[in-house]
This record gives sequence, C-alpha cells and structure tokens, in this order.
Amino acid sequence: MQDKVPAGLDRKEADVYRHLDPAQLPRHIAIIMDGNGRWAKRRHMPRVAGHRAGVAAVRSTVETAARIHIPALTLYAFSEENWKKRPKSEVDFLMRLLSRYLKAEVPTLNKNNIRLEYIGRQHELPEDVQERMAWAREATARNTGMVLTLALNYSARSELVDAFRSMVNAASQNGGIEHLRIDEDTVGRHLYTRDLPDPDLVVRTSGEMRLSNFLLWQLAYAEIYVTSTLWPDFRGVHLLEGIAEYQKRERRYGGLNHGDGHSHGDAELAKVHK
Ligand code: FPP
Repeated sequence: MQDKVPAGLDRKEADVYRHLDPAQLPRHIAIIMDGNGRWAKRRHMPRVAGHRAGVAAVRSTVETAARIHIPALTLYAFSEENWKKRPKSEVDFLMRLLSRYLKAEVPTLNKNNIRLEYIGRQHELPEDVQERMAWAREATARNTGMVLTLALNYSARSELVDAFRSMVNAASQNGGIEHLRIDEDTVGRHLYTRDLPDPDLVVRTSGEMRLSNFLLWQLAYAEIYVTSTLWPDFRGVHLLEGIAEYQKRERRYGGLNHGDGHSHGDAELAKVHK
C-alpha cells in the first residue's frame, strides 16, 4: 500500500495509485488510442467529433503519467495506414487538430517538465504541420521529465525498412558494406526509438486485440492491456488501472521467472514432475 500520493492526482486516481508499487512502474508505456469513431457514432455525431473529444483524453493521460513520474509515454496518434486510407477531410481535420494541440499544449508540457518527440515519416506530413511540430519540440527540448513521443504517420514495418536502409548507409560511409555486422543492438540503434527503452506496457483502448503495425520490434516483451473504454472516455485513472493490472503480471522474458533466481520456476517444474 502506498501512502504518499503525488501532487495533482484527483481522488479516484489517488485511490488507484495507493495500490501501486512505485518502485515497479513501467519505464515506458505505449498507447494505441482507438475508438474515436465509435464514440462519435454512439452519439450520432460525425467521426471528427470523436477525434476532438480524444484530445481531452490525451491531455488527462499525459498529465497523470507525468505526475507519477513515468519516464516515457508514446501515443499512436496516426498510423501510415490512417493517413493513406481515410477520407481527405478527416485527415485534414486530424492535422489541424494536431497543430492546435501542439500550440495550446506547450505551456502545460513545460509546466509538467515534459519533453516532446516524434516517430514516423514526418517528411510526408504537410509542411505547416512539420513546422509546428519542430517548434513544439524545440520549445520543450530543455525539459528533463517525461518524454512524450507522438507517433505520426507511423508504421512499424516502415520503421524497420528505414532502419535497414540507415544501417546500409552508415556501413557504406564507414569502410564499406562488406564490414556491415548486424545484431539486435545494431538494429535498435537505427530505429526511430533509439533513445527510448522498449515499452514495458502497451495499452489499447476500445477492446480490439491487435497491434496494428505499432512498435513491432520494441513490443517483443511488453505486457498487453486491452480495455473496452473508448479513447475519448479514457482518463488518467484508466491509465493507473492499466498499470495496476501490469503490476499483477509476472514478467518472464522467455525464462521461468523474472528477478530473484528460479525458485518459483523450480517449484512450478517440481509440480509438473511429481
Ligand atoms: C483512432 O480512432 C484514433 C485516431 C486515428 C486518431 C487519434 C487522434 C486523437 C486521439 C486526437 C488527436 C491526437 C493528438 C495527439 C492531439 P478511430 O477513428 O480509428 O476509431 P474507430 O475505430 O472507432 O473508428
């Protein structure tokens, strides 16, 4: 039981937080924000109203994560597929929403000591959006708290393709391709997420059980938490509930157990061999 509750949590958040172990918080949480369209449909509103309502969920989630000192939070805002397959009017709306979010949110990000980063093929986004993104990143670059990474025009397969290209390019400028040695560390150093730890926890809203081309390399050992809550209804308290669920899991990384030796694993094996 946790007595000390970080400043700024509301009563419901504090109630969940008290049951967490602050020494076992995930270092990096990745979120697949889903269900904006269904949220709007249920209210007989246009899809874009769901996206607009999704901004409040982003705000609450980001602030709560920063308040409990999660080192890194990554939000899947638009996939490459979203960008290419949705009607232009919806994509334009999302771009305007993002631009407005960045402009409005920089003071709050600074107040909460949050540094903004991006992953995805930014050069394919509209130029004015790229400029606003660069401005917001620069305006938060000196913050030392949580790193908030927005995945924009992101696809994990494209990220891997870009990493392979980057490895070949680096080798050709450094002794030639015949010296190229590839191992997991090399791949990791050429991913967009090279400065982040792999996520410990991935959250998906709206009940879908898919990774949807998100951080496929980095999520190799992540715990998956799926909630039926639609993204516009998601708040900091739901994030804390996801962390509570994560802390109940035993992480094994392919081994028998994680942490202090193999006693639990041996006991389980002994049961099997009796
Ligand atoms: C998925 O819902 C959500 C998106 C494609 C966009 C996410 C955008 C936001 C949450 C708001 C803006 C973001 C930032 C960072 C300011 P969906 O449309 O796929 O929902 P559906 O599956 O119910 O149709």
